[in-house]
Amino acid sequence: MPRNLPTGLFQLLPAGRYRASPEELRRYGSDETEDLNFPPDIAVLPETADEVSRVLAFCNEHRIPVTPRGAGTGLSGGALPVQGGVCLSLEKMNRIVEIDRENLFAVVEPGVITQTLQDAVEAVGLFYPPDPASKSACMIGGNIAHNAGGPRALKYGVTKDYVYGLEAVLPTGEVIRTGGKLLKNVAGYNLTQFLVGSEGTLAVVTQATLKLLPLPTVHRTLLAPFDSVAAAARTVAKIFQRGVTPCALEFMERAAVAAAEERKGRKFPGGDSPALLLIELDGMHEAPLDADAESVCAVCLEEGASDLLVAETREKRESVWDLRRSIGEAVKKISPYREIDCVVPRARLPELMDAIRETTARHALSAISYGHAGDGNIHVNILKRDADPARWKTALPAATRELFERVIALGGTITGEHGVGYLHRESLALAIGEANVEILRRLKRQFDPNGILNPGKIWVKALP
Ligand code: LAC
Ligand code: ZN
Repeated sequence: MPRNLPTGLFQLLPAGRYRASPEELRRYGSDETEDLNFPPDIAVLPETADEVSRVLAFCNEHRIPVTPRGAGTGLSGGALPVQGGVCLSLEKMNRIVEIDRENLFAVVEPGVITQTLQDAVEAVGLFYPPDPASKSACMIGGNIAHNAGGPRALKYGVTKDYVYGLEAVLPTGEVIRTGGKLLKNVAGYNLTQFLVGSEGTLAVVTQATLKLLPLPTVHRTLLAPFDSVAAAARTVAKIFQRGVTPCALEFMERAAVAAAEERKGRKFPGGDSPALLLIELDGMHEAPLDADAESVCAVCLEEGASDLLVAETREKRESVWDLRRSIGEAVKKISPYREIDCVVPRARLPELMDAIRETTARHALSAISYGHAGDGNIHVNILKRDADPARWKTALPAATRELFERVIALGGTITGEHGVGYLHRESLALAIGEANVEILRRLKRQFDPNGILNPGKIWVKALP
């Protein structure tokens, strides 16, 4: 039996729902955040809200830390059991309970893979837009915990914009229900939205009611190569100022494209240029989409695009997106790294790109940047490469702090979609101020008086 755990814990669920081998604990001790590993003492795999409730009530009584987990694809360490204890994996709660085609809602359990939900609703002509790059592996529960974004957030919004109701279990074991299939609902504080993005620190989601849309049937996918990062960045806001809202507008610098090309063994169209914009339009009718595509092309050419390439078939479109989605993993393979998920108001993107270049140069660090330019959200990967370990240890925090300060001075913040988690908990006060951190702490105490749920995340000071 794992050390330090009361035997009663093993009587809560059927025997086959515990994982304790060193290999399994190592796997449950990691997510996609750098090479961090914090093995839990045990992983527990409930199948119902009642089972989640039993585990939480027991752990609350015995003051055992509990870290909820979906697929472990997070990039800020949210699922790392940094204080050991129980990993509460929702992987077995993976049913699509209902696709309501009359009201356009889906009801799902947290362990449903995002892509699985998308395929299921698309098969009946409906659409669940949030599309994090890890959509083929990540789970709805994790998407809700981190309010996940993705390229299509630009036109369709992020996960929070689709979550209308939740069933969740509080750290004390109480099961609560919020919202429902209601497009309007102002009865009391918005508890649904308070739980979305709370990074598994307030409650464990056991069921979600998600809004669906009609599936767009027409797409235009354009690639615009630029001779400089600055020209590409300048173009982004101009596209919207021309009255067009693409469903995605992604930026990739050459090094990001090269990493994806190497990993996938094929070329990105236009990928040899110093900077690339990938722009996708979608809708229900050809003619308005063509008019918008013409406007986008005109803006890009006016701003200095050296060419405009169109992915004309569904296969080409999917191939381009597959390359784009592979950048994150491809960059990670190059070297140890730190990812900074900065976001600024869209029109300040050129200044953000300057800040990234100047900050990394000042600290003699190398970085690869790409991301959701239309949202002002850029993933900056600072790479260790052959830096001396002692210099890396001091230069990385200094560069991170400086970049955060510059992003905040631009009216931005320290994470747009990956969350604060474990990685950036020391920087939260910089972003939102001590007074706001204190309000968050007080709210946390109301939900989790003993501080058992996902401890060590979001802020630094211990609770209570
Ligand atoms: C992406 C992930 C890293 O945009 O958010 O590829
Ligand atoms: Zn992203």
